[in-house]
Amino acid sequence: MWKFHRAIIAAGLFLVSTSLTQAQDVAAGETVFKKCKACHAVGDGAKNKVGPQLNDLFGRTAGSIEGFKYSKAMVAKGEEGLVWDDESLAQYLSKPRSFIKGTRMAFAGLKKEEDIVNITAYLRTFSTAEDAAEAAPEVEETKAEVEQDKVPKQEEPKDAGKRSAGKFGLGRLVTPMEIAAWDIDIRPDGKGLPNGRGTVAEGEPIYTENCAACHGDFGEAVDRWPVLAGGLDTLTDDRPVKTVGSYWPHLSTVFDYVRRAMPFGNSRSLTDDDVYALTAYILYLNDIVEDEDFELSSENFGDVVMPNAANFIPDAREAEAHYANKGDACMADCKPGPVEITMRARVLDVTPEGDGENDGVGNID
Ligand code: HEC
Ligand code: HEC
Repeated sequence: MWKFHRAIIAAGLFLVSTSLTQAQDVAAGETVFKKCKACHAVGDGAKNKVGPQLNDLFGRTAGSIEGFKYSKAMVAKGEEGLVWDDESLAQYLSKPRSFIKGTRMAFAGLKKEEDIVNITAYLRTFSTAEDAAEAAPEVEETKAEVEQDKVPKQEEPKDAGKRSAGKFGLGRLVTPMEIAAWDIDIRPDGKGLPNGRGTVAEGEPIYTENCAACHGDFGEAVDRWPVLAGGLDTLTDDRPVKTVGSYWPHLSTVFDYVRRAMPFGNSRSLTDDDVYALTAYILYLNDIVEDEDFELSSENFGDVVMPNAANFIPDAREAEAHYANKGDACMADCKPGPVEITMRARVLDVTPEGDGENDGVGNID
């Protein structure tokens, strides 16, 4: 049954690749590229993100951008001679994991043929070379530019703190600006929040553009990227769905985490107002606020109560009977009598079985 299924998919791919001659629309392609943007950059100064930068893609050997960590599968394809052109790109983008089994690209694929045609046209506008022979010198140039870019960054900034005196004169004092850039934690009571504001409605497009590729349009998650919404009342289930809404006790963690770490691969790229709007939108996805005009700001941040807050209690172990007055902890021969094996890990079934298809994809649970 499965084999037949595969054959049908392969036939579908062939159709896609033979009809690329239809009208191409660069502007529509730019819109489609929003689905890739979380992971790929194009244009001036494009850097590798979660995925490799896609300038000069046409004529590029698969898996060949230096410094990017590709999957073994992608590198092997390149070694076998796979070069990106209209046809190979169409096949990869329509079903990434069927075309390159074991690819690390956690992307389900573009279903509409016209999307593939248009995105191909859009990506072509960032490609100067048409074949591998022409592409090679281009790549060299970009590399040289990148290396030049690095040099000034490594120099100490003019306003850096003084050299430390100390016994060995090592290091230097940190500057107030360096501390400010690092000291961004926010306490549950809101201490440390930057000034700013953002509404649910403002958060939605920011979320769609920067987060939905991994976390899904409604926070339901794509593939095995983390789920951000739902799961209410599942905490006592065998497999609880722990999300911001069902599990997290403090809203400050959402703000802090998103500002510090997201979007994955492009962290610290959001403004404080963006993060307020996104935090408001995540509350909305979790039905914690219901009004699209709800505005979250440094002023009303403390008013939001998370559904699971009450289930987090201060650690009072020291006072519990089991721990109190125990004296020194036992460190050797604590259990009288011989050790008895009561169960084996294999029987307990704690080792997940890979199904092959998704090996190496996402790997986040
Ligand atoms: C969730 C992140 C993610 C998304 C979304 C994504 N990609 Fe990728 N892409 C990757 C990763 C990671 C790789 C490297 C794959 C590997 O090594 O197997 C990759 C590889 C590629 C490559 C091969 C490049 C090379 O140097 O060989 C192309 C082409 C590509 N992606 C195009 C796209 C396009 C176009 C889209 C949107 C329609 C897209 N990707 C969406 C993460 C992503
Ligand atoms: C390329 C994929 C990707 C994109 C895009 C992305 N995230 Fe994430 N996100 C992740 C991964 C991976 C984790 C888990 C990281 C970890 O556990 O170290 C995560 C974790 C989170 C968490 C914590 C979830 C939990 O329950 O632990 C939040 C909240 C979050 N992301 C919000 C966002 C927001 C908001 C955006 C957009 C600004 C965004 N993410 C964009 C991949 C992504």
